[in-house]
Amino acid sequence: MTALRQPDKTAPVITIDGPSGSGKGTISQLVAQKLKFNFLDSGALYRLTALAARKRNTDWADEDAVAKIAEELQVQFETGGEKTVILLDGDDATDAIRKEEMSLGSSKVAAHPKVRAALLNLQKSFQQGPGLVADGRDMGTTVFPDASVKIFLTASAEERAQRRYKQLMEKGESVSLRALLTDIQARDERDSQRAVSPLKPADDALILDSTTLSIVEVLDRVLDYAAQKGITPAG
Ligand code: C5P
Repeated sequence: MTALRQPDKTAPVITIDGPSGSGKGTISQLVAQKLKFNFLDSGALYRLTALAARKRNTDWADEDAVAKIAEELQVQFETGGEKTVILLDGDDATDAIRKEEMSLGSSKVAAHPKVRAALLNLQKSFQQGPGLVADGRDMGTTVFPDASVKIFLTASAEERAQRRYKQLMEKGESVSLRALLTDIQARDERDSQRAVSPLKPADDALILDSTTLSIVEVLDRVLDYAAQKGITPAG
């Protein structure tokens, strides 16, 4: 990685953690837009690491080799247009990292402590003015333990599988709902059982169950909670 920006420790951080399919990606982006804050999709960094390893013919199980790849990750997030374009080694990897294969790969590489350590400073460098919304599994517990607002967003595994199924169908990927549910349960298990930075709410997180809530309802609750903590839109 080229030289990283020093984090601005005075910039407020909102962490939104939770399992896959809880809606945190969508919610985090909307919160960032509403507040005019920067946005960190930490899952994308694990997905990019898995993709980079695949491109270099490196086994996801090879912790040292994958950690080296994570340390040297050449990524750019191009925001500004309709959607964020993610470049890996200068090539557009936006769609490639969202494939089911990289969902699996990312959760495998994310279980290695050395890979997590290699991505830590890169994640911290996203803390810049006017503020940051950070989406992931361990944003509130490990990466930004001093965040002013911590949310843990969850939903039942069945509901999360349904949402993912709809998303993939819309993209024209054919998948079985049952297989997705099994994958989600396996991923939850790996993410919450791993020794380093397991998926769990921070002690001071607000837990929000989105199973029966619409996106707008979840967004309103997060923004209300942020406002109670003194965070309002920038500029
Ligand atoms: O959020 P997303 O589904 O894109 O994350 C992909 C994978 O990366 C997750 O299944 C999880 O294993 C891992 N991850 C993580 N810690 C984070 C973000 C993602 O371990 N902060």
